[in-house]
Order: sequence, then C-alpha cells, then structure tokens
Amino acid sequence: MPSAAQSSPEDLADSFVSQVLQWGAHVRRDLPWRRTRDPWAVLVSELMLQQTQVDRVIPKYLAFLDRFPTVVSCADSSVGEVLKLWAGLGYNRRAKNLHLCAVQIVDRHDGLIPSRLDDLLQLAGVGPYTARAVSAFAFEHDVAVVDTNVGRILARRLGHSLSAREVQAAADQVAPEGQGWAWNQSMLDLGALVCTKRNPKCETCPASTGCSWRGVGVDPAVGSAGVSGKQSTFEGSDRQGRGRLVQALRSGPVDADEIATVMGWPTDPERAQRVAFDLVAEGLAQVVAADGDPTKEVRFVLPS
Ligand code: ADE
Repeated sequence: MPSAAQSSPEDLADSFVSQVLQWGAHVRRDLPWRRTRDPWAVLVSELMLQQTQVDRVIPKYLAFLDRFPTVVSCADSSVGEVLKLWAGLGYNRRAKNLHLCAVQIVDRHDGLIPSRLDDLLQLAGVGPYTARAVSAFAFEHDVAVVDTNVGRILARRLGHSLSAREVQAAADQVAPEGQGWAWNQSMLDLGALVCTKRNPKCETCPASTGCSWRGVGVDPAVGSAGVSGKQSTFEGSDRQGRGRLVQALRSGPVDADEIATVMGWPTDPERAQRVAFDLVAEGLAQVVAADGDPTKEVRFVLPS
C-alpha cells in the first residue's frame, strides 16, 4: 500500500485554517453548550463530553444545569446528588470530580471559574484537554484544544504519526489568532463528522486539498498520540459491576448481602465486596449501619 506523502506543521498554514473555518461556519452543529459562554456550563459540558457521545450528553447537560445552575449550587449539594444526575453518562468518577471541582472553585476562587490554564489545571478532573476547552469555549482565548479528533486530523493532514507533544505543538501553531472559539469547535466537528476514525468522508472534507493522506494507504493517525486505541471489554469487567452498584444506589440503599447480586456476580461475593469497597475508598459510595434490622450488618448508600 502506498504511504501518505508527508508534510511539516508549516504546511498546515492559511488555506487549511480558512477551509476549516468556512466549513465550520456553515456545518458546525448547533449544540446547547455552544450557545453559552458561561464557564460553569462549559465546564459541565466538557466533563460530560470527555467519555460520552454528544447525543447522550445533551439531555443530561440540560437537566444538570437546571438542577445546578451555578458553581455554588453544586458545591452546596452532595456528591450523591451529583451522581444521581450523572445516571446514563457512565464513568461516575467524573461526577465526583465535578462536585469536588465546584467545591475547589468556591474555596479557591470565590466561586468564579478561573480563566488561566494554570489555575484550571489544578482543579479535580481537569486535564490539559478540559482546561484548554474551558479557556477557548468560555473565555474565547486563543488556545489550541487537542483531543483524539484533533490528533487524528493533524496526523492525517501532515501524513505521519505524531507524539503527544507534536500534536499539541502542531495544533498551537495552526490555531488562528482571535478565532479560538470558532476554530476549536470546528476542528472538533470536523473530526466527529468528516475526518472520522473509521470510514472518513474524504470526498466531502473541506480540507482535502493539501491533506497528505486523503484516505489512501496506511492511516497516519493509527499509532499517533492522543488517538484512542481499543476500549477494554466492558462485559464482565469490574467497571460493569461498579456501574451496576452505583445505579442501584441511585434508587436507595443496598444491603451488604445484596451487593453481589446487584453487581451481577451472585457467585463471587468476595469480588463484589472488593469492588464495592473500592467505590467507598474513591468517595463514590458510603457504608452505613443498617439500623433497625439486627439481621443485617451494613448497607451501602450514595455519599452524603
Ligand atoms: N466534544 C468535546 N467537546 C466538544 C464540544 N465542545 N462540542 C462537541 N463535541 C465535543
């Protein structure tokens, strides 16, 4: 198979930027978090979008902001309440981090979400991607947001795989001044809608002129940093059991002797206990006395 012609980040230059910006202006999706510059709303959306598809996030995002319209309202609530609103999004650690994040913003920044990357990076669950996303999408700063979509586009465009550092450097170099918001939102959609991982739609790509790959030969994005590999199997995993227990706790307490069944491992109570106590250690569940019922020892509940 022929391999892609290679080019350097300088080749990304102006035509690529105008191609993507023009395409974005017409085709970019009208998503609820794109109608606001409220840093709290943007932070909520980006934490939800970290590992969950847009369609699934939309109703959860709207319901979450209905219940917690401000940082303070979330910080004043409990992790358990945030976990309840997280139902259906998966990766429940993000809910715990979002609550902690709200508490940290109240404690450290008087309830105002900081705009500096350094400060954002100190918040729970906020890594380089989320910090830049908040900076670009709430404060309209000219930072380059890099996620798997952006890493994939740049590797294909340049025709070779890129290390994490190279992806960020190339993204920083190409991001146009004064257009951080539109640029980054357009790049995310180009990756989600056109320059997709599988079956990319090169024939409709606004930036196929000047692309080193154009869908022919070995995909330069494979093996590139920040380009996600295979997800580990969910069926039968600890993660599945964790998710089931947290889901059951959303409806109410679960007695210790019921957790193995609830987690889907009726014949393996030791595994259930180990995984349940991991949840407790991480602050995603609590153990309380099963008072009033002498036949039961303890029960699990959502954190208060
Ligand atoms: N994925 C992560 N951030 C996003 C955003 N702002 N819009 C659409 N998809 C996203």
